[in-house]
Parts: sequence; structure tokens; C-alpha cells
Amino acid sequence: MVSHLIPWMGSALEIGRNPDTFFNRAQRKYGDVFAVKAFGRDITFVVSPSLISEVHRKAQKYDFGYYRVTLTTECFAIPTSLMKSDPLSKVLRPAHHRHLSPTGIGPTIEFYTTAVWDLLEKEGSRFAGVSTPLRDLVLPVLYQSSAYAFFGRSCPVLESYQAFNDFDTDFHLLFAGVPRIFLRKSTEGVATMNRLFEKYFDGPHEEASEYVLESERVIRDQGYDSKAVGAYFVCFFFALMTNAPNAGYWMIILNLRREEGVQPLVDEIDEAVTSWKQQNPGQEIEDHLYEFVSTTELPLLTSTIQETLRYVTSSVSIRRVTEPVELGGYRFDEGDEVACVTRSVHLDEEVHENALEYNPRRYIDQKRFSKNGKIVANHSMPWGGGASMCAGRHFAARALKSFMVSLLIRYTLEIDSKCSERPVFMLERVGTGALQPKGDLRVILHARK
Ligand code: HEM
Repeated sequence: MVSHLIPWMGSALEIGRNPDTFFNRAQRKYGDVFAVKAFGRDITFVVSPSLISEVHRKAQKYDFGYYRVTLTTECFAIPTSLMKSDPLSKVLRPAHHRHLSPTGIGPTIEFYTTAVWDLLEKEGSRFAGVSTPLRDLVLPVLYQSSAYAFFGRSCPVLESYQAFNDFDTDFHLLFAGVPRIFLRKSTEGVATMNRLFEKYFDGPHEEASEYVLESERVIRDQGYDSKAVGAYFVCFFFALMTNAPNAGYWMIILNLRREEGVQPLVDEIDEAVTSWKQQNPGQEIEDHLYEFVSTTELPLLTSTIQETLRYVTSSVSIRRVTEPVELGGYRFDEGDEVACVTRSVHLDEEVHENALEYNPRRYIDQKRFSKNGKIVANHSMPWGGGASMCAGRHFAARALKSFMVSLLIRYTLEIDSKCSERPVFMLERVGTGALQPKGDLRVILHARK
């Protein structure tokens, strides 16, 4: 157990101050498995790729179902009977994985690509030439495009933005077990979201994606009303919005702050556009943007997206032990809690050379390298978590590709030299996915000739 001074709080404050430092120190002192007390709970943290992979592989012994039910029913007010029902495990979850898989996600990405192109056109003409906080420029565009892609144009996008942010800001505290009484704003945020989505499902929404329509049919067939369907999708909406938009925001900043800026990405995209135009004379790229982004290999952009997800995400997957089990030399009993800290793997020098450096070329240059006699993984999720942990990541990666292509085809972007403020990671949001920014910077956007 990591030593701590305050009994109930345990190490919570120390983790909140700087989780990267806390987990790094604990790993050096105690090894790859160590117990931590926080908010009255004893949780064992696992920080090595092989042990994390073991936890994910042995899903019967390390169960996520308990947290899925607790979180979704307590946070989002989804009926417990629905979360524990057979259709959930036999129909709804398989549908989720099928529609979000690399082969199933195409139609949603097509819708997304059209939306992001249109929104960038609108926002670009509004902001062109004016010094603008990057947050105002990109987050609403990324939020709206994702919402339209899954829920169609009748989605309550603008009405939900504030409520979503109110909830999102405190989510890590809810996740960590802080009593609700301290989290009034986020509780009200989710209640507003639930009301908006109940209304959405009561009204016409035929433009929603097949994933949403199919899941809605299954839920209604079990006798549930728009309120339950809405709550089910507020939970999904939250997972959708808390990740990809923040990752997109960081991808721009991390590249703008490099000496060469976004120019290498612009060059790669321009070359691909020129080649596409030669093969498709007389055609306009914006009429074929989805086809272009889904068929054109852009190795630097692909590597940049992967590197951004490595660098800016802080995911913890928590599991409840279902039977006595041994892990990393320790014995666990039924009911014990084990949390896999994937960010420790992201920042592990044994896994990623110069792990603290943001290197957009990492996954081009570093195909597979061997260090200290070990073969080291060449992707951002060496424990295999990408495919098994969260199907939404395929959407996130492809949506970010469409977004960056649409942005850089049309605009140049530079940091406003008069702005000295720089955002930093909100590291205390440990475990909830792409980190939010604390602070911001101002950029100037110009339409390209
Ligand atoms: C950068 C992108 C993302 C990251 C880092 C991320 C991370 C995670 C993590 C760590 C979990 C917990 C899984 C576990 O412990 O097994 C999770 C669950 C989930 N994510 Fe994501 N996610 C991302 C994008 C998305 C997107 C774009 C969507 C929606 C399209 C999404 C939908 C979900 C859902 C619905 C769950 C709950 C899954 C379940 O009940 O089994 N995620 N995500």
C-alpha cells in the first residue's frame, strides 16, 4: 500500500496534484502492482503492459460489468433493469461493437466528414484573420460534427453544450467516488442532458445513424420509453464527447508548437490532393472528401493521430475480481478492485523511446525497435487495449483524420505571436480519456488561396 497521511482521503490529493509523478514514483518504489487508498477505497493499480494485458484477457476473473452497471445507473439514471438485461449483453453491446468497428463505422464517418467540412467553412469565415482562442475555434466544431454524425441534425447540440461541459468538468471526481453532494453542477448538467435527449427521442430523428436507430428499437422493444432511451444515449454521448474533441484540440497545439508547425502535415495532404486531382480530372475534392480521406494513406497524419492519443490520454480501466486470483505475485480475492493505468504505459521509456517527447513521426520512424534485448511495441496501446477496451477509438482516429484534412486543405493556422499563454494538461482528470486543457492559446486562421 502506498503510504499516506490522511486516513479517508488517502493518496487522493497527491494523485490529484500530479498523477504522472505519483504513479511514476510508486512504480519505482513498489513495482508494477501497488495498492492505494483514495476516498475510503483500497484500489490496486497495475502499470505494466503485460499485467494490464492479462487483466483484460481474463475478463471472467476481472469483471467490468459491475462498474458499467453502477456508473450508468447512478450517473446517468439508466434503468438498472435495462443495464442488467439479456438484450444489453446479447444485442446492444454486440451492436455497439459492430457499428463502431473499423468495417462498421464507415457511414457514420461519412456523415461526420460532411458535417466537419460544412462547419469549418462556416466557422472559418467567422474567424478568418481574427485572433481567436483555439478552444472556441475547434471544440464546438468537433463537438457538433460528432453529434450530427451519430444523432443527425435534430440532435440538441447547442442546447447541450453547456450542460455537457458542466458534467464533464467533474466527471473524474464522480468516477473516483467523491460524494454527489459536492458535485451539484455536474449532477444538474446530466439531468439537463437527460431531459434534452428524452425530448430528442420523443421527436422526429430519422437522420440518426443506424447504430442509434437500431439500439433505440431494441430498448423500446423491451418496453422502455424515451426517458430510458435518452439516458442510455446520454451515457454514450458523454463517452463520445469527452475524448475525440479534446484530442483534436491537443493535436493542433502540439504540432503548432513544433518548429516546423503543421507544415509537414500540410505538405503530405497537398501532395495527396494533387495526386487525387490528377487521377480525377475535373472533379472537386470537397465533393469526394469522404472517399478521399478513407482511401488515401497519409502516414504522417496517421502517426500524428496515434502519437496524440498516446500523449494526451489518461485512461484507467477498473475491474472487480470475481474469484481468488494471482497477479504479478500478489493474491486477490473476490470483490477486490484492480485498476489498469494505461498512461503509465504510454509514458514508459521501456515501451516508448523518449516517452516524454511528443514526436508525430514516432509510428513511422519506430516500426519496431528493440531495447535492452526486449522487443518493444510500435503502437500506442501495447497491452492490446485499443481493440478490446473501447471500440470508440476507431471512430476517434478516423474522425480526427477527416477533421485535420478538412482544416488544413482550407486554412493556414498560426499561433498569435502576441499571446504568451499556453495550455497545460488537466492531469488531475486521471482515468477519463483525453485530458482537458487548463488555459488556452490564441490562433489566427486564414483561408488558403
Ligand atoms: C481517444 C479516444 C478514447 C479513449 C482514450 C477512450 C477510452 C475509454 C476507456 C479507458 C474506457 C473504459 C473501458 C474499460 O475499462 O474496459 C472506455 C469505454 C467506453 N468508451 Fe471510450 N475512449 C475513446 C473514445 C470513445 C469514443 C469516440 C466513443 C464513442 C463513439 C467511446 C465510447 C465508449 C463507451 C460507450 C464505453 C463504455 C464501454 C463498455 O460499457 O464496455 N469512446 N473508453
